[in-house]
Amino acid sequence: MPRKILIVDDDPHALRLVSYAFEAEGYQVAVASSGAEALARLASERPDLVVLDVMMPDMSGLEVCQRIRANPATARLPILMLSARGLVADRVSGLRSGADDYLAKPADTSELLARAEALLARAAYPPARTGRVLAFLGAKGGVGTTTVAVNVGALLATGGYSVALVELRPGYGTARALLRLDPETDLGGLLAKAPGEITPQEVESRLVRHASGLRLLAAPRVAASWSPASHEVVDALLPILAGGYDYVVLDLDHSWSALNRAAVDHAHFTAVVSEPEQVSLQCARATLTTLRAWGIMGDLAGVVIVNRGTTSIPPTLPQIRQALSAEAVGAVPPAGDACAQAVRDGVPLSLLQPQHVASAAMRELARVLSGTAHPPR
Ligand SMILES: Nc1ncnc2c1ncn2[C@@H]1O[C@H](COP(=O)(O)OP(=O)(O)O)[C@@H](O)[C@H]1O
Ligand SMILES: [Mg+2]
Repeated sequence: MPRKILIVDDDPHALRLVSYAFEAEGYQVAVASSGAEALARLASERPDLVVLDVMMPDMSGLEVCQRIRANPATARLPILMLSARGLVADRVSGLRSGADDYLAKPADTSELLARAEALLARAAYPPARTGRVLAFLGAKGGVGTTTVAVNVGALLATGGYSVALVELRPGYGTARALLRLDPETDLGGLLAKAPGEITPQEVESRLVRHASGLRLLAAPRVAASWSPASHEVVDALLPILAGGYDYVVLDLDHSWSALNRAAVDHAHFTAVVSEPEQVSLQCARATLTTLRAWGIMGDLAGVVIVNRGTTSIPPTLPQIRQALSAEAVGAVPPAGDACAQAVRDGVPLSLLQPQHVASAAMRELARVLSGTAHPPR
């Protein structure tokens, strides 16, 4: 298979020149003309190497590089910086931001190709298998976020995957009730720790198993005394979970906290959950705007509509898509009574009543979100 190179440069001339050099050698080429576009392309294109310009108007290459490194899915991706700035200080800051190599423009084509080949050869050693992180972020409270997260998690678990569901919030969460689990050890203890103290053993000891096979890391029963550096805890926690589970499902609350900010940075996909109703959709729109400002856009984010049956004439999916300028990756129809029964039994609706139309919608959503999933291990 030809290797794929993602070339990022805001200068169309440079973009063409470098693309041509790689294409002529038989590489597959994808291009991005801004930092934000580059980040969006990573998930969809899955390149083997990134050639990254530094000076770009929206987001510098240094920041793009840091973000690539911060995301466990791309942390080991080879990055070759190619910049008009060639001073020693520029090279040093490029390498410090996480680049593997740095070349000054104008670069000699054969040197550029040779350096790229060297990086690709080293990267050929298989990296540790990392799980896919799926974040569910409520547009506001009470729209069905936890219900969707729990169902998608349980469906993936019964599909043979290892799944960790994390209620990533400082206060009480409802997954305990939905799954009828009430662990004494939970996220609270972790949030109070220094990031360096968060080990795989510490994390594993706080996960409880549901009958579906899903593991739950529950939100604190008692409000955690969490430090302002909680995002560092998230940065430590999520790679550990992604290293041990095929899927890490995050149930996030509707805040724009540092916790959520860190969480979506680690997510391969962030689903904003909304009801098909005006107030909720307005909140969804604001949430999507915030996510875009954080660089979470394109293939990295979408909308899940949960119709709880509270609006008599809900807008159609095309209308919602237009109003939000975002794709709806799933739509769950009303299932009030079935949801109540599922809560009573502590079994997610999609497992309790698999024939229900809402269950079929959840299965479809799980299928879409599992993306280019590897087979269950
Ligand atoms: N498809 C649905 N149809 C009807 N009610 C639903 C549906 N999905 C969830 N609910 C109900 O909506 C309420 C809020 O759901 P929840 O998942 O707790 O929302 P959130 O996590 O956004 O606060 C719960 O009572 C839940 O049973
Ligand atoms: Mg909830």
